[in-house]
Amino acid sequence: MPPIKNLTIDAERLWDDLMQTARIGGTAKGGICRLTLTDVDREVRDWFKARAQALGCAVTVDDMGNMFARRRGQRDDVPPIAMGSHLDTQPSGGKFDGALGVLAALEALQTLHRAGYETFAPIEVINWTNEEGSRFTPGMIASGVFAGAFTRDWAIARQDRKGESFGEALDKIGYRGGEPCGAHKLSAFFELHIEQGPYLEAGGKEIGVVTGVQAMRWYEMTVTGQDSHAGTTPMPRRHDALLGAARIVEAVNDCARQFPEAVGTVGLMEVRPGSPNVIPGEAYFTLDLRDPDATVIDRMETAIAAAAERIAGELGLSVALKNVSTQPAVEFDKGCIASVRAAVKASGYSSRDIISRAGHDAAYVARVAPTTMIFVPCRDGISHNEAEFSRKEQCSAGAQVLLQVVLDYDRQLTERHRRG
Ligand code: GLV
Ligand code: MN
Ligand code: MN
Repeated sequence: MPPIKNLTIDAERLWDDLMQTARIGGTAKGGICRLTLTDVDREVRDWFKARAQALGCAVTVDDMGNMFARRRGQRDDVPPIAMGSHLDTQPSGGKFDGALGVLAALEALQTLHRAGYETFAPIEVINWTNEEGSRFTPGMIASGVFAGAFTRDWAIARQDRKGESFGEALDKIGYRGGEPCGAHKLSAFFELHIEQGPYLEAGGKEIGVVTGVQAMRWYEMTVTGQDSHAGTTPMPRRHDALLGAARIVEAVNDCARQFPEAVGTVGLMEVRPGSPNVIPGEAYFTLDLRDPDATVIDRMETAIAAAAERIAGELGLSVALKNVSTQPAVEFDKGCIASVRAAVKASGYSSRDIISRAGHDAAYVARVAPTTMIFVPCRDGISHNEAEFSRKEQCSAGAQVLLQVVLDYDRQLTERHRRG
């Protein structure tokens, strides 16, 4: 087997791919708006497919639209070692969240291809559908189906705010594949991602060895009051759903601040009927609660539900709180983490252990395959923002570690099979 140190990824080529694909859905402020299953998502998927096929990969798609680009190994009966992330973005997303993990994986494949390096197991690059959960809630829905956290039928029926279902949107862009989601077996999965937080940059570390992901829960809340005339309804007679929602948002913020590591966010709200001279009769909003300890989320949920009932009672409203996804805290696979540590050591990059505060497809995939993640710093810890930025050398350091991790894991698999 050739020495791993001869396989060096091409930092310029990776950067060019990041900048080229960033134009698909690119925004005036330098970010990307590439909501899942839209025309621009189809365009970037087509780009990904063509690029992978040019490297000799077979590209398959499952019935949740997840894409798998497979490079053959010596033993095609062994499940692939996979790398990847997602190509969808937030409405005002940056160029790196998700894209780095897919494009660095593609760059790793390209490096193997150019070197004519033959791995033992097949190597795959995966593009997961709808990681962001912006158009269809919840996020990571397709990796969730892959891992058995959601049923395919439930996921396919989810609707965007215009009433279009996930299944209809998949068909529209031509990416509903034939393979049942979850049937695809993996030997391991590695996801490279920008940290999306401030700790690596603040500590001057080049690589984050990700040991797990904090717990996270999503809810939908609807506050119902009564539509009525803005000019004629005296203040004491109002049942203003938006006023109730505003007080609940305040309660979410107060509640999360009572725990040292918790966060609570209302990120989307819709008010009906939505007219300047009608008192809102309904307010719908989402709620995102996270903490490394799921029992803290239990306590926040109880406190927020009680506050919402109290507020609703005071204003003559009713309130409904619905949980739409629950992700327990995840501990990544020790063997995969050991491969990351070995790759970091071999490459000489500085590193620290870190847990992910963001959700990732890797958190679901970890339920069905040995999995871990690799982080690189991003400027000022800013993400889900068009200004999100990681430097070329930070991206390439992550890609290099990703390639070495996969090769290290492939060597381990070879040994395991030899020993029987
Ligand atoms: C994924 O983008 C998340 O919400 O953490
Ligand atoms: Mn992401
Ligand atoms: Mn994201």
